[in-house]
Amino acid sequence: MHQGFEPSGTQERNVALELVRVTEAAALNAARYMGRGDKIAVDDAAVQAMRAAVDGVDMSGVVVIGEGEKDEAPMLYIGEHVGNGNGPELDVAVDPVDGTTLTALGMGGAIAVVAAAERGSMYAAPPGVYYMEKIAVGPASAHLIDLDAPIAENLQRIARARSASVGDVTVTVLDRPRHEPLIAQIRAAGARIKLIRDGDVIGAIEAAMEDYRSVDVYMGIGGAPEAVLAAAAIKCLGGELLARVWPRTDAERAKLSADGIDLSRIYRVGDLVQGNDVSFAATGITSGDLLQGVDFIGTGAQTSSVMMRSRSGTVRYITARHRWQQKFPTAE
Ligand code: FBP
Repeated sequence: MHQGFEPSGTQERNVALELVRVTEAAALNAARYMGRGDKIAVDDAAVQAMRAAVDGVDMSGVVVIGEGEKDEAPMLYIGEHVGNGNGPELDVAVDPVDGTTLTALGMGGAIAVVAAAERGSMYAAPPGVYYMEKIAVGPASAHLIDLDAPIAENLQRIARARSASVGDVTVTVLDRPRHEPLIAQIRAAGARIKLIRDGDVIGAIEAAMEDYRSVDVYMGIGGAPEAVLAAAAIKCLGGELLARVWPRTDAERAKLSADGIDLSRIYRVGDLVQGNDVSFAATGITSGDLLQGVDFIGTGAQTSSVMMRSRSGTVRYITARHRWQQKFPTAE
């Protein structure tokens, strides 16, 4: 028997295995709206499917990262109780679609994503906190990155950890005007850049996956909820994500400071997701580099998902065939 192997009789329940059915449901429903130019329809379809599916999970969950406050989101709002109430008490982070624009435009890289961890262990971004500056890497560079160090210095450290030159390092960056200075610094340092239109949860995850060698690091400013979701996955993968609240304007900076938010604080993975039993699942909606999107094949559909669990460090990829008529009997 290999070290660490648990005979099946002693294995605990694995919530990640149940969560993947939730992300599959969201992806299957959202993918119907691919390329139809309607972001709201994409999101609604995913939210409804995810909300229905999540109550099949054996847990007593509370949404910590969700679709917004109760008065602005009818489902999957912050504080909503989800799950069938039979299992452990958990914090739940959801993004039914990371990449609504990508899906609406028929572009690759959109995912449905869910994470869960012990109750009270996930960072709930305070009201008014929308963005964070982030840097994410895999285990080899986990202790080398520094949000305050020059970009070139971070890239050199990441290159050294790989015994490579900076010219071999690839950085994922969201394609935004705010990133022009960052992009200029990365180019000046000589590293390669993968610009993404949207979807920095999977962007950060790909950077942290040691066996996924196309990208070494994710850098830039993206959503605060997306930082928590990516941190949940990276907690399972063993890399690092550093994040700091990023106010968009001076007025926002002043307001957040007045509200007592420490704008200098750098959050690590362990601050964003403190729990030790973290489960994570994501399903491709439109095809990206790591996950294939939903394929409608014959009388059904095929999904590609990744799921992870921090306690065991297991990463599973699941390709599932769904019989459309049996899953959604009312569908055309
Ligand atoms: P969608 O809203 O189209 O799903 O986009 C998601 C996303 O690209 C995230 O992955 C990212 O963190 C955030 O938007 C960036 O925000 P912004 O588009 O405002 O720069």
